[in-house]
Amino acid sequence: MHLEKIKAFAQTIIGEDTTGHDWRHALRVEANAKKISPKDLSIAEVEIIRSACWLHDTIDAKIDPEKRASLTEVENILHESGASDYQTKEVLYIIQNLSYSKNIDKKQTLSFLGQIVQDADRLDALGAIGTARAFYYGGSKQHLIYDDTRPRKADEITEENYREQKSVVNHFYEKLLGLKDCMNTKMGRQLAKHRTEFMEQFLQELFDEIQTVDEH
Ligand code: ADP
Ligand code: NI
Repeated sequence: MHLEKIKAFAQTIIGEDTTGHDWRHALRVEANAKKISPKDLSIAEVEIIRSACWLHDTIDAKIDPEKRASLTEVENILHESGASDYQTKEVLYIIQNLSYSKNIDKKQTLSFLGQIVQDADRLDALGAIGTARAFYYGGSKQHLIYDDTRPRKADEITEENYREQKSVVNHFYEKLLGLKDCMNTKMGRQLAKHRTEFMEQFLQELFDEIQTVDEH
C-alpha cells in the first residue's frame, strides 16, 4: 500500500481540528497501537492498523462538517493507495465502529486488529495527554471545568445524550475513569491502569484545591 497517500489525506481532514482530534492525535494513536501490537503481524495487517489509526476520526461527527470526509471518500483513497478489498473492508469497519459513542447502546464486535486500534485510541483519552485533551475539548465546546451537577450513572447515558455533559470533571467520571475496564488487550489494560492512576491523583489534587477556595 502507498501509505503516504492515506497520511496526506487524513492530514488535510483533521490537521486543523481544535477539539483534540488533530493530526498529532492520529500519530499518537498509531504509536500506541505499535506498542500494544504483537510482533508477528503481517505487513498487510500493520497497514490496516496504521491506516485505521490515521483515518479513524476523519468521518467522525465531532469533526467540522465542512472538513469531514465521507465514507466513500475514504473508500476511494484506500483503493487509490492500493489497499486490497480485505484491507479496505477492515479499515472501513474499524473506523465506523471503534468510537466510544458507537459502543454505548450496543457493544460493537471488532476484529483483533480493530481491538488494537480501539485500545490505542482509548489510551490517548487517558493519562496526562487525556487530561489535557478533555479540558481542551471542553473549552472548545464552551463547557465548564466543573459545576455543581453530579456525573450521570452509566444507565442514564445513551448514544443520543452522551454529549450533553457540560462539566469536564464530570466527563472523567462518566467515561474516562471507566475506560481501563473496557480495554481489549493485556498491554492496553496495563498502560490504561497506569494512566488512570495518574488521572485519579490529578482529580484528588484538583478537589483539594477547589475545596480550599470554597471554604473562603
Ligand atoms: P470517541 O471518538 O471514542 O467517541 P469521544 O469523541 O467521546 O470519543 O472523545 C474523544 C476525546 O474527546 C476524548 O479524549 C475525550 O476526553 C474528549 N471528550 C469527549 N467528550 C467530552 C466531554 N463531554 N468533556 C470533555 N472531554 C470530552
Ligand atoms: Ni480518536
